[in-house]
Amino acid sequence: MALVVFLIAIGAAALSENMIPPSHIQTIDPTKVAQTPPFDRPGLRQTGQRQYEAYLLAHIFAFTPPHITIPVGSKVTFYTTSPDVVHGFFITNTAVNMMVVPGWVSSATHVFRRAGTYLLLCNGYCGSGHHYMYGTIEVKG
Ligand code: CUA
Repeated sequence: MALVVFLIAIGAAALSENMIPPSHIQTIDPTKVAQTPPFDRPGLRQTGQRQYEAYLLAHIFAFTPPHITIPVGSKVTFYTTSPDVVHGFFITNTAVNMMVVPGWVSSATHVFRRAGTYLLLCNGYCGSGHHYMYGTIEVKG
């Protein structure tokens, strides 16, 4: 319980300072990820002009969906969780770098100001297929 209060306190502080949100706010039953909205339909949702929410599953040994495409200047909040083991969620050339822990929903926001292909990498060793676990974020100019 103390941990939860601590995490909420950090979350409130981080959000008020407009920093990267903390990784662990929401919980989810890891055995029911595939049936739990919004992770039952992972993918990109547009929430405004150049504003998106991206729900990506991290699992052995892939991200689902593995590729998303957004226009340059988009602000994307990523939400991720794992139904199996601990993974990493790191997007190259950004500050998005989260641990993905079964039972928790991790989130982070980034504004993609430059066009190009960003790699989404699992940077936590998760098993024999760890090195094949990656995705791409295509930012179109
Ligand atoms: Cu998933 Cu390493």
